Amino acid sequence: MSIYNKVGSTYDSARSKIGIKDILHEVEILGNEIKVLDLGCGTGHPIAKAVSPNVKEYCGIDNSQSMLDAYLKNVQNADCKLLEMPDIKQIPGEWDFIFSWGAICHLPIEQQKKTMAAVSKLLKPGGRFLFTSGKEMDKCTGTVGKYTVHHYSMGRSAYIGFLTAQRMELVDTRFSEGDFYVYKFRKST
Ligand SMILES: C[S@@+](CC[C@H](N)C(=O)[O-])C[C@H]1O[C@@H](n2cnc3c(N)ncnc32)[C@H](O)[C@@H]1O
Repeated sequence: MSIYNKVGSTYDSARSKIGIKDILHEVEILGNEIKVLDLGCGTGHPIAKAVSPNVKEYCGIDNSQSMLDAYLKNVQNADCKLLEMPDIKQIPGEWDFIFSWGAICHLPIEQQKKTMAAVSKLLKPGGRFLFTSGKEMDKCTGTVGKYTVHHYSMGRSAYIGFLTAQRMELVDTRFSEGDFYVYKFRKST
């Protein structure tokens, strides 16, 4: 069972506003008439809450029912689905913006690759993909409350190589607020 099932809405009290600015910046570039997929949306606080009113369609994906229970209380007018990230290939339609803030990096590398291959298929040409992960190849642990969580990074050059092979072009990589390393890609047209 995901440790996030034990965390649930208690996550919100420790969650800062980090990430909102980066995600809203992408929305500004793409415009408000867009469909957005949030991978590992958690409780929806603060990102889905701030971003979903600014777009046409918003769907959060998470594999923890208790995080989604909190999401449904926190976020109005936004859809969500209980799903493992690598299974997003079953989601219908084409999407303008797919992102994963502090979430895809929890997946072992093979699962990240499966998820990213599916992201490429779900994105419209010119659609954008943003995620946070380590800059260097790494496997480490962190904590969420009293629980230990794992993080895995392929490292910058391997992410770029893998996503380029999935028909995605690098837009930018950089450290953002809270020392999150942000990767931005665009689906080739
Ligand atoms: C650190 S929280 C980040 C939540 C949110 N993105 C935020 O910025 O506050 C990571 C989230 O990823 C979800 N998650 C972890 N592994 C997942 C997986 N394999 N499939 C779907 N969601 C997953 C967890 O349940 C949790 O809600």
